[in-house]
Formats: sequence, C-alpha cells, structure tokens
Amino acid sequence: MHNLDQIVHAASAAFAATDDPDVLEQVKASYLGKSGEITGLLKELAKLPPDQRKTAGAAINHAKDAVEAALAARREALRQRALQARLAEEALDVTLPGRGQARGGLHPVTRTLERIEALFASIGFEVADGPEIEADFQNFTALNTPVDHPARSMHDTFYLQDEAGGMAEGVLLRTHTSPIQVRHMQAHVARHADRETMPEIRVIAPGRVYRVDSDATHSPMFHQVEGLWIGENVSFADLKGVISDFLRRFFENDDLQVRFRPSFFPFTEPSAEIDMAFMSGTLKGRWLEIAGCGMVHPNVLRHVNIDPEKYLGFAFGMGPDRLTMLRYGVNDLRLFFDGDLRFLRQFV
Ligand code: PHE
Repeated sequence: MHNLDQIVHAASAAFAATDDPDVLEQVKASYLGKSGEITGLLKELAKLPPDQRKTAGAAINHAKDAVEAALAARREALRQRALQARLAEEALDVTLPGRGQARGGLHPVTRTLERIEALFASIGFEVADGPEIEADFQNFTALNTPVDHPARSMHDTFYLQDEAGGMAEGVLLRTHTSPIQVRHMQAHVARHADRETMPEIRVIAPGRVYRVDSDATHSPMFHQVEGLWIGENVSFADLKGVISDFLRRFFENDDLQVRFRPSFFPFTEPSAEIDMAFMSGTLKGRWLEIAGCGMVHPNVLRHVNIDPEKYLGFAFGMGPDRLTMLRYGVNDLRLFFDGDLRFLRQFV
C-alpha cells in the first residue's frame, strides 16, 4: 500500500514542519479529522469486497497509528521546547552572589544630636527648630547685636542674593542657632499672652549653622545645639548644674571637669565659654572649649516682649560636632562632612 506510506510520510513531514501547537492541531485535522485523508480511506473500506476489507482495514489502521504516533511525538517535542524556553527565561543562577541590602546607619553627628535631645528631654527640655535661611532681625538685632557689630561683616556671614543678583534685604544663612531662642520666645509669648504668669521656657534647638570658616576644626557648615531656660528664678548656678550634669552623662564619665571662663556675647550678660577636660585617657587634662553661654541679656527679653524685671534665665550654644569628635576620638572635623563611606561605616 504505497499510498498509505506516502500519507504517513506526508503527515510526519507536515507535523515536523509545524512549530506552533495550535497550527499542529489544524494539520492533524487534515489527516485524522472528519474529512481527513485517513478518515476518508476508512470510509472507502465499505466499498471494498468483503474479502479485501480485513487486510485493507488493518493496513489503514496501521497507518493511522503511525500518524497518531508522529502527532503525539511532535506534540511532546513542542511541549518540551516550550518548557525549555520558559526555564531559560526564568533561569535563576543560584550560584550568583547575593545583592545584599547594605545596612544603613545614622551619621555620627546625628547620633550625638539624638543623644543630646534624649538627655535634655529627661530634665524637661523640649526640642525646637527654626529656619536655616534667617532674617537679620532674629539672627542679630533681637540678639542685641548692633548694626556695626563685626559678626555682620560680609566676610563673616553668608548673605543671600535676590533674583536681580543684589543683596536680599536682611536675609542670610544663620550664623548660630541663637535666632531659634528669639523665635521660640516670640511664639511662647504669643501663646500665653492672656496669662498673668507665663510658664517656663525650657528648650533646646539643634541645627545647622553657617560661617565663612574652613580648616581642620572649622567647617563652613557645622552644627550647634542651642539651650534656653527662662523662668522667674533661674540662676547661673542652674546653668552650671545643667551643663556639668549633661556633660557627665553624655560622656558617661563622672570625673570629667567643667570650667566656665568669662567671655563676651552681645546677647548674654554675664557670658562664659564652657571648657571641659577628661581626667583620664589620651586627652587627660586638656581643656577643650565646647560651648558659649550666659544669662540672657535683658535687651533680648525686651525684644520679644518678656519683662526682664520678672523673668530671667540662661542660654547656651554648644558644638555637637566637637562633642562627636571627643566621643569617638576623631581629629578632623571635615571628615564628618566629606561623605566618605570608609569613614562613616565605622559608626554603623
Ligand atoms: N550663639 C553663640 C555662638 O554661636 C553661642 C551662645 C549661645 C552664647 C547662647 C551664649 C548663649 O557663638
């Protein structure tokens, strides 16, 4: 039955030429479907004389089996091919090194700021903040710093330009966190305007400040933490107690010595620089300046409508960058602001 062999061959070739499983099913129909070639031959059987039917039927069924086997083989081949394609596409190389999520960490100065906030919170200080772009009034005038004061010189302060390129009237990058004292007192007075007695002010204000200064111990941007305690009975003794106690807790060192050295600030009177010294370790006995402070000048209170006859208090401004250098034994302030991960990673 030459014809049957041809059909089986043609069917196998047609299956093999088909890559698409859907098309394969259509090709199948033209051999095994209702009007397919094999089906046609089976229908013809009835027309044969009975003695030929058996052998012819067996031969056709044999061919049909062969076509079905070729079809099944092709279906399986296509299924395998699709599977392989999917495996290749979704391949996962388990031997690749992991990408790993780098562990972040707080900047050492941020750690210091958080520590300072926590220690002062424990003795009833709230945290305030204020704008880094500050008005001349809050940064200088209200702080009893007259117009001819050297701190107002162009060389010492970053002034802002307006759109025309000229100097914006009285707008600058704050040179210290003391303007937050002013803003906080102004808001406090406004909040308690209708009371006989104003509640105490106890606040610290950490933030960035800017000066035209750059060397190993000065950066044009650095941090300060302002402190302010205003009440009816706040004395210089309270200032000494608060600062000494804070420093001992901050450095976890009870032997640490604190010294108040007379100084001058326009907005405090009397004023002092605060020095500290460790009594052991590599820095043993070396005095280090860490803050300025004093009793708030009556003119500052007058500028914010607080009666200096009734209220008084102290203020201080300390350098958390310095405290961080001391705490971790870092000798160049600029390392904190270079953004070099080799340095910063050591604090994670
Ligand atoms: N603002 C002062 C400075 O930047 C520090 C200071 C704050 C001094 C508060 C006295 C009181 O140098």
